[in-house]
Amino acid sequence: MIRDSAREYAERVLKPNAARWDREEKFPEEAVAEAAENGFLGLTVPEAYGGAGLGNLHACIMLEEVNRWCASTGVTVSVHLSLVCAPLSRHAGEELKARYLPRLASGELLGAYCLSEPHSGSDAAAMRTRARKVSGGWVLNGTKSWITNASHAGLFIVYAVTDPDRPKGRNIGAFVVERGWKGLEVGKKEEKLGIRASSTCEMQLADVLVPDENLIGDPYSGFKVALDTLDGGRIGIASQALGIHRACLEDSILYAQQRQQFGRPIGEFQAIAWKLADMATDLDAARLLTQRAAALRDQGAACTREASMAKLFASRACNRAAQDAVQIHGGAGYTQEFAVERYYRDARVTEIYEGATDIQRLVISRLLLK
Ligand code: CAA
Repeated sequence: MIRDSAREYAERVLKPNAARWDREEKFPEEAVAEAAENGFLGLTVPEAYGGAGLGNLHACIMLEEVNRWCASTGVTVSVHLSLVCAPLSRHAGEELKARYLPRLASGELLGAYCLSEPHSGSDAAAMRTRARKVSGGWVLNGTKSWITNASHAGLFIVYAVTDPDRPKGRNIGAFVVERGWKGLEVGKKEEKLGIRASSTCEMQLADVLVPDENLIGDPYSGFKVALDTLDGGRIGIASQALGIHRACLEDSILYAQQRQQFGRPIGEFQAIAWKLADMATDLDAARLLTQRAAALRDQGAACTREASMAKLFASRACNRAAQDAVQIHGGAGYTQEFAVERYYRDARVTEIYEGATDIQRLVISRLLLK
């Protein structure tokens, strides 16, 4: 049912508009509003807080469908669910959950996750944003980079160092900050190679006062919240890679059947046919890895290794598929006449955000050698 409703939504709302949104770098507001109406923005939020109470496996299936037609909408929904709703559901106290989860689940608030900074990307714990304790709360100062959804988000989870004298990674708090709070400013919008309709901005925090009750967990374990959250986020990005990969495969099959050269459809040449076979096999392998990680997370089991493997494999496979899809389309694939040109650009970021390919290898190998 989830697959059917996500597919119906994606074909009706995203398919006719995705290319234009990409060209115009237009945030897909209507698509996000309709995703909320369909319940997708609260899919994994517990029923007690207004969500559908479903799991990561359901989210994974929904996200593949959404990303099949629009990776910009895909990342918008993935970040909202996996990087914002999930840490609140998993780590916040009752009062914070009751205050924010229903508004996130309904789509009244879109969520953003603020970890990276100009000087700390892969080395996330090296962040410089500071939270200074004052009576009744914390005062946040710093700059955050690459913030997905920033232009439209109503709620930001901001990570900041709460005590510079404590060891790195054990000195970070996770704060819930609302849009409009004094000192929080959404800065320059990035002009990107792909997922151009999604919102990616810098953010400044200048003396933003956050009340004590908006801290998720204790003031020093925020980095663990961030990394546990990324286990789920990486499953979301692997699902995004599945959607883009499937788009590459489906469009390439169609083109290989229609395009004639040397008197026959190019799909009859092994050079093309074998590319399709490899793309399809990679897609199934990536989907199985991704759904395994999602199912493990739904069971409450550790899934750090599996989530990283899913993202590592799915994102690389998706990029291979995008490369082959453009090659199969030849000159046509190098123009905006055919969607594979956009898939090729969109695929690239799946190997970069939520932990670059090299970081996934680091996570997996550390666990192997531990
Ligand atoms: N879950 C919970 N806790 C975890 C964990 C996990 N998956 N992994 C590690 N931890 C714990 C560790 O046990 C450790 O705890 P102790 O200090 O008590 O031992 C603590 O967290 C710190 O862990 P590490 O020592 O492993 O930390 P590190 O500084 O060596 O960093 C890293 C590890 C894997 C490199 C990490 O920094 C990382 O994942 N970097 C990549 C950052 C990233 O993915 N950024 C994405 C930005 S968000 C984004 O892209 C969203 C978007 O817009 C789409």
